[in-house]
Amino acid sequence: MQLRTVSELLSQEIVIPDVEIKGWVRTFRANRFIALNDGSTLNNIQCVVDFEQFDEALLKRITTGAAIHVKGELVESQGKGQQVEIQVKELDVLGDSNPDTYPIQPKKHSFEFLREHAHLRTRTNTFSAVMRLRSALSFAIHKYFNENGFYYMHAPIITGSDAEGAGEMFKVTTLDAENPPKDENGNVDYSKDFFGKETNLTVSGQLEAETYAMSLGKVYTFGPTFRAENSNTSRHLAEFWMIEPEVAFMDLAGNMDLAEDFMKYVIKYILVNNREDLEFLDKRLQDEDKKKPQAERSPMSLIEKLNFVTDNHFKRVSYTEAIDILRNSKPNKKKKFKYIIDEWGTDLQSEHERYLVEKHFKCPVILFDYPANIKAFYMRLNDDGKTVRAMDILFPGIGEIVGGAQREERLDVLKEKMAAINIPEEELWWYLDLRKFGTAVHSGFGLGFERLVMFATGMSNIRDVIPFPRTPQNAEF
Ligand code: 4AD
Ligand code: MG
Repeated sequence: MQLRTVSELLSQEIVIPDVEIKGWVRTFRANRFIALNDGSTLNNIQCVVDFEQFDEALLKRITTGAAIHVKGELVESQGKGQQVEIQVKELDVLGDSNPDTYPIQPKKHSFEFLREHAHLRTRTNTFSAVMRLRSALSFAIHKYFNENGFYYMHAPIITGSDAEGAGEMFKVTTLDAENPPKDENGNVDYSKDFFGKETNLTVSGQLEAETYAMSLGKVYTFGPTFRAENSNTSRHLAEFWMIEPEVAFMDLAGNMDLAEDFMKYVIKYILVNNREDLEFLDKRLQDEDKKKPQAERSPMSLIEKLNFVTDNHFKRVSYTEAIDILRNSKPNKKKKFKYIIDEWGTDLQSEHERYLVEKHFKCPVILFDYPANIKAFYMRLNDDGKTVRAMDILFPGIGEIVGGAQREERLDVLKEKMAAINIPEEELWWYLDLRKFGTAVHSGFGLGFERLVMFATGMSNIRDVIPFPRTPQNAEF
């Protein structure tokens, strides 16, 4: 007999005399009805036990959380809520679960509580749905790039460079932390380190991806990246996954087209292939929404929001236009932002980004041509000498979801920009080489994967869309 999944059995319409299944008990009612889940679908299969045919001691071990093995007949269900059920013929407990100490009870738990039990939280409907969607989205991402002629490039995790030039790096060292070797000035002597120089966990695979774009043409990375920023927000993690395509001979307009097409593709993919999980999360959000005062309720359901993004053109607005809009806006009753933008050149805060997306344009927005001094050194300087060909994509409920740019391909300009912020040429000699040997226009962007999963699932805290969140407070698991 071949082992089946719950998902497979629930889609059957015929009686099957012998089926075999393994899973975890969600509930056991009236000594008769086992709701069994194996992770293959949100739904449980009902296994009906004739208690007179089984040992009482065995039935006592059928508790929430226990792993069991069932053999029986798949029949049409007499009860409400399911088409089919299993009439149990053989029953085995594979792994007991003490009901007094098992943390995941068949009731509603808060997300905060479940975060403390991250190793068990995927046994709940919400988290199993979120993580199945995370898996589907990552598959869709690879599928998109594969269908569009991109090569998947594995960027290094340990690196000597700071791609963003923001100094938010986790050091990787083999030196004795308590007693590191020092030079004559008392500074830590990294030349004695295993790698002979300072190394860190990557903040972005972009610079390495650029080297591959300048030989293979179209590439992308999809891997973990790390930021040692001490930001305790619902949108930041110390370890997050990033998707970074990089394309030779593509300018900023091409980069915007690519990002929009790509984001729409992956969202459409889950709308078609993961309907059941999306509908469940949609209903969860609508139930939450009903508890809120009218004014705070969301104007769109989750599925409406996803459809809206795939059906509408992303609005493209320059930084300068955005600043003008923000200066003339009255965002709330106080008619003021917390952080007032009075000068051209100030960076936008998330309140401004969300205002533009949610209140002003009411659709995803691509902001471009930012002031050079608030963006990374590698971005292509415009002819005005003060803006760079940067782009950020802003999404409703999220704010910045993508950051990207056309890259500075001119050796002399790049060297000047590096010098201005004291990046030594020796540190990025290989990056400068790309500008010496066959340089060309090229562009790319980075999509924060967890922010995409947040948008796609309607979850409001980034800690709830990654299996084991790494934040300044939490690295226990
Ligand atoms: O805007 P960022 O810093 O851009 C880069 O790293 C570029 N090198 C990307 C490129 O052009 N190849 O980060 C890109 C995206 C952000 O828009 C955001 O979605 C996400 O990565 N991100 C984070 N997500 C979670 N936690 C953090 N601490 C994040 N920092 C950035
Ligand atoms: Mg950014």
